[in-house]
Amino acid sequence: GDEDDLEARPPVVTVMGHVDHGKTRLLDAIRKTNVIAGEAGGITQHIGAYQVATTVNDVDRKITLIDTPGHEAFTAMRARGAKSTDIAILVVAADDGVKPQTIEALNHAQAAGVPIVVAVNKIDKEGADPTKVRGQLTEYGLVAEEYGGDTMFVDISAKQGMGIDDLLEAVVLTADAALELTANPHQEAQGIAIEGHLDKGRGPVATVLVQRGTLHIGDAIVVGEAYGRVRAMIDENGNNLTEATPSRPVMVLGLTSVPGAGDNFLVVEEERTARQIAEKRAARERNAVLARRSKRVSLEDLD
Ligand code: GTP
Ligand code: NA
Ligand code: MG
Repeated sequence: GDEDDLEARPPVVTVMGHVDHGKTRLLDAIRKTNVIAGEAGGITQHIGAYQVATTVNDVDRKITLIDTPGHEAFTAMRARGAKSTDIAILVVAADDGVKPQTIEALNHAQAAGVPIVVAVNKIDKEGADPTKVRGQLTEYGLVAEEYGGDTMFVDISAKQGMGIDDLLEAVVLTADAALELTANPHQEAQGIAIEGHLDKGRGPVATVLVQRGTLHIGDAIVVGEAYGRVRAMIDENGNNLTEATPSRPVMVLGLTSVPGAGDNFLVVEEERTARQIAEKRAARERNAVLARRSKRVSLEDLD
């Protein structure tokens, strides 16, 4: 039966928080590579996604991490981010404290029923006040364990690489306590696009998160209004993969066009079917646009 096919999968963790509070730098510290150096103006342009391994209580555990930009123009993407995630890491800079996008991010996570781990960042800075951050977040229902609540707060410095292992441990412990994370890997893959872009050499490229099933090279795939056959899959370290199992983010090559963040993807039997589904989705979208336009015109006619 279907239930017998369920297997444990890694938690999918979205890093959220106010602009410049250190989300990308934290992911950078976790991967120990430099993601920020490649970003225009240090503002996250795309949602990046990576999988890392950590050891908790002598057991090797994988964690999937998704970056989100803090700029207010990306509210919709943050809303989608909260929906595709199991756990949210809420990054709050200890020198700056709770800000409007901190509250917005925690509202998205709470509305989606996603447990939150708070990373109190920049504790290396003068004027950093981690106690004040804990006090501020109490007003929003996030009460630290040391104050009798059930939210884990971890003081970190993404810059100095301090507290990173403690944070990952808090994520794994929160996942184990609050969630039963399983998926059936023995079915055709389904999931969500995290970002898409046009690469000069490779053509349309999409980073997708596999949520159910296993994605294979050669699979016929529909991603939003894009479709194609999976020509290659590349992980966060540039390695080519032959398959991607639940909770794995992977860059997919072989699509005919660029999908958008938040688009659903699914694998179907034949590429022809993939094209038909993609065309139906595109037609539906065109009709919705036309309907909105004609509604606007007729409302204007009334004036
Ligand atoms: P957006 O994606 O634009 O919302 O920003 P972000 O939250 O990803 O912040 P980012 O990682 O780009 O960091 C913003 C600035 O804060 C950069 O200059 C970082 O080097 C700096 N920064 C991040 N973490 C720390 C830290 O722990 N200590 C100090 N001193 N600076 C930090
Ligand atoms: Na930034
Ligand atoms: Mg960023």
